[in-house]
Amino acid sequence: MIPSYTRLTAAATALFLAGAVHVQADTPLGIAYNNQECGLVMFDVYGEFEWPGDYYGDYYGSLCTNPNALVSMYASMYTYCLPEDIEPGLDIMNEWCTEYGEVELLRPSEFAANLTKEAIAALPVYGEGDVEEGSNVTAPFLMSKAVFDVTRRSEHAYDWEQRLHAYYTFACYGFWAIILLFGVVQNITYKIIESRSSYVYTDAEGSGRPINNAKPANIFGRAAAVVRKYVIMPSALPPYHQQRIMGCTIPTRAETFVVASYWIIGIVLGAVNIHGFNGNIFWSGSASQIWRYISDRTGTMSYGNLPLLWIFSGRNNIFLWMTGWSFGTFNIFHRHIARLATLQAIMHSIGYTAYYFCAGYGEYYFLYFAERELWWTLGVSATVVMSFLIIFSFSYFRAKLYENFLIVHIVLSVLLLVFLYYHTAIFDLEDYNYPFILTACVIWGFDRFVRLVRQLYINLHVRRNTVGNGKGGRIQTTKATVTYHEAANILTVDVVPGNAKIFPGPGQHYFLYQPLTIVGWENHPFTLAWWNQTSSSSSTDDDLHLQFWVRPYDGWTKKLVKQCKAKGGSTLTTAPAMLLEGPYGKAEPLHTFDQVLLVAGGSGIAGVLPYLLDYVRRVERGAAAGANGKVPTRTRNITIVWADRSEAFIRFIADGVLAGLLNRPDINVAFHLTGSQPAVADASNIASTASSSTDAVDSPVTPAEDADATVGEKTVQQFDSEKGGVFENTADLNKKSIAAGYRIQAGRPDVLSTVRKLTQSIHGTDARLGVMVCGPNDLADNVRHVVAQNMETTRESIEYFEESFGW
Ligand SMILES: Cc1cc2nc3c(=O)[nH]c(=O)nc-3n(C[C@H](O)[C@H](O)[C@H](O)COP(=O)(O)OP(=O)(O)OC[C@H]3O[C@@H](n4cnc5c(N)ncnc54)[C@H](O)[C@@H]3O)c2cc1C
Ligand SMILES: *[C@@H]1O[C@H](CO)[C@@H](O)[C@H](O)[C@H]1NC(C)=O
Ligand SMILES: *[C@@H]1O[C@H](CO)[C@@H](O)[C@H](O)[C@H]1NC(C)=O
Repeated sequence: MIPSYTRLTAAATALFLAGAVHVQADTPLGIAYNNQECGLVMFDVYGEFEWPGDYYGDYYGSLCTNPNALVSMYASMYTYCLPEDIEPGLDIMNEWCTEYGEVELLRPSEFAANLTKEAIAALPVYGEGDVEEGSNVTAPFLMSKAVFDVTRRSEHAYDWEQRLHAYYTFACYGFWAIILLFGVVQNITYKIIESRSSYVYTDAEGSGRPINNAKPANIFGRAAAVVRKYVIMPSALPPYHQQRIMGCTIPTRAETFVVASYWIIGIVLGAVNIHGFNGNIFWSGSASQIWRYISDRTGTMSYGNLPLLWIFSGRNNIFLWMTGWSFGTFNIFHRHIARLATLQAIMHSIGYTAYYFCAGYGEYYFLYFAERELWWTLGVSATVVMSFLIIFSFSYFRAKLYENFLIVHIVLSVLLLVFLYYHTAIFDLEDYNYPFILTACVIWGFDRFVRLVRQLYINLHVRRNTVGNGKGGRIQTTKATVTYHEAANILTVDVVPGNAKIFPGPGQHYFLYQPLTIVGWENHPFTLAWWNQTSSSSSTDDDLHLQFWVRPYDGWTKKLVKQCKAKGGSTLTTAPAMLLEGPYGKAEPLHTFDQVLLVAGGSGIAGVLPYLLDYVRRVERGAAAGANGKVPTRTRNITIVWADRSEAFIRFIADGVLAGLLNRPDINVAFHLTGSQPAVADASNIASTASSSTDAVDSPVTPAEDADATVGEKTVQQFDSEKGGVFENTADLNKKSIAAGYRIQAGRPDVLSTVRKLTQSIHGTDARLGVMVCGPNDLADNVRHVVAQNMETTRESIEYFEESFGW
């Protein structure tokens, strides 16, 4: 089943593309083909002279209509050009005449009498310097062979480079097409495997399925297992992935491969096949030609990267659901493409500076600044803007000033598009502005449009059927209740969306807005932690409730706490005007695994609990199907390991959502209460990241060394500086909880041995283990590392899923 919003996205994409693609250029990026070059040689040579007549002084006007000029050009074409190049040459000459001179090229047939063999043979032949440049020419003449040869060579060198600029730019799209196609095929394959293994049949005795011995995997299965263990799973520098090294995100090996390949392709294609020769009629020195070609190459390739930048940054990027890759993965692509494009823009600027001085045009260089030539000034500004975009996107600014980062990022991006538009508006709009700038705008507009549609869809609902539900015929809007649980230091945001016809499920996140505040555009993503209906049975009177569990930080979430506190009272509840945007994200196929391990840290419980609730619902559906019925999950056993600093939060979940589930044999829950160390937690000590990470999972550490307390970059991720929660010893804790059927252990969980134990239990069978983590960076990274180590190389035994609260 394709969710309705996916279909909506697809339909909107088609609509937008149909309206926007309006590229009518005869050649991509205005290049000339090989067989057109001979025609352009005529313009190069005869354009150097004046042709007194009707269009005197008008370059294309006289070249395209002056009989003396035309007879000279056609006579030279018939003498020197290959016969098959004459028609294509005439075509491009006519194209330039109509486009730049707004006159029609008079065709050779008009001068048939002057173009006979005899007439041509009777023409004078002039070589280099025989006629002074810029002098008035009043009779036709033939260029010498030597003049033709050097001009042809120069024209060819320039056009050949122009073609390479275009082809290499498109080769970059080819690269991404291959990568994305791979992702699509991979996604479809996973979906097929998933649909085959997503249910089992209960047998008549209800004794469940036998566990089979491992079937030896075929060569493909083994190869896939090895690739997953060594390439797809681990980070490029294990165990760093969510954690940063000196503020840098470390991608997985597969992501690193893609990104590194792109850098290599970008740099190599930006530098190869650049040749100059002495005596070129345009710029005689080699150096000036080389600088010019490098600049044009890098400039074009930089433009080429713009649409990619915008595609990969949107929330409604169709490749997100076509490939099943995460927003975080595309965000890594986005950032690296941006850096490469900026490097190319800087090279373009440096190259043009060098070119002007090498070619002896230094005076123009200063003149352009002095006269404030718009295309020139804005080109320089665009490079500066791009560089600032990169600088302001360093993770330091993203983490410290997310909202300001976003505003600056958007404003600079708009400026960039405007500047670049005017920079290349001196060319045909079809050459650069339509294919690159306009496309980027369309992609951006599309994302914003779909966001608006999603907001309208989920927040507004006009009730048509007013009978019987007591709610009257009116527009129903989203209602929200926010409660602050002070001891647990958690906000629960309970939202009744205006439109109940959505499909809540695990793995989804929504963006929350408070439209009536001064910064009403601000919106923050939160994972759907709990909901009260399995499907949109809108016939029931009960409203659909979506619940989000939010750990408050400094910005928007802190204001929510303030709003709750302002209401006072014992409950600290408020009902602000709130809007939803979503759902985004996708459910991982945990129900296709025989064993499931869910690891959560802090508010990360919101990311994994929906999978437990989903499991419970699936089992219920299986039970309802009766004997020999279809059970829509393979899972026999779910283990949850959750650590939090606040006992109140643990109890809130254990006695709330989990009540009644904790005694089931198929569900094992381990609660861990970790201590708090405010002094360390407040210090943003980046250096401690490295030291704390390696042993974080291996050894059950004392509460004082809690992962949350020692991890660096407090503000980047959301779990880090958790406050609240007083450490008690285990005995104290459990007196209270045994009665309720659960135990809270003190200290950090030993996830390593849990993974090992579960791995052992499936070893030698065909059962598979699914591990999902949602927690602090170092927790996630260590579990990823441990899982990669414990993967079998003979079959795909374990799969790792990560829900991160940041990108
Ligand atoms: C997919 C996803 C799901 C999430 N689910 C939950 C959840 O269920 N429960 C929960 O407590 N938190 C969740 N978060 C984290 C939550 O979005 C942030 O804690 C919240 O945005 C912080 O807002 P603030 O203004 O109070 O924080 P600040 O103190 O201003 O910033 C805290 C941190 O949050 C980051 N941040 C702020 N706004 C955004 C934003 N719009 N997008 C991305 N990062 C941002 C900042 O860079 C900073 O690192 C989730 C994040 C993502 C990306
Ligand atoms: C060329 O001819 C035009 C008039 O047709 C005249 O104005 C101009 O001065 C001449 N130029 C030269 C260099 O003789
Ligand atoms: C073309 O040929 C005619 C007749 O020979 C001559 O009068 C005329 O000047 C020629 N035109 C050009 C442009 O050479």
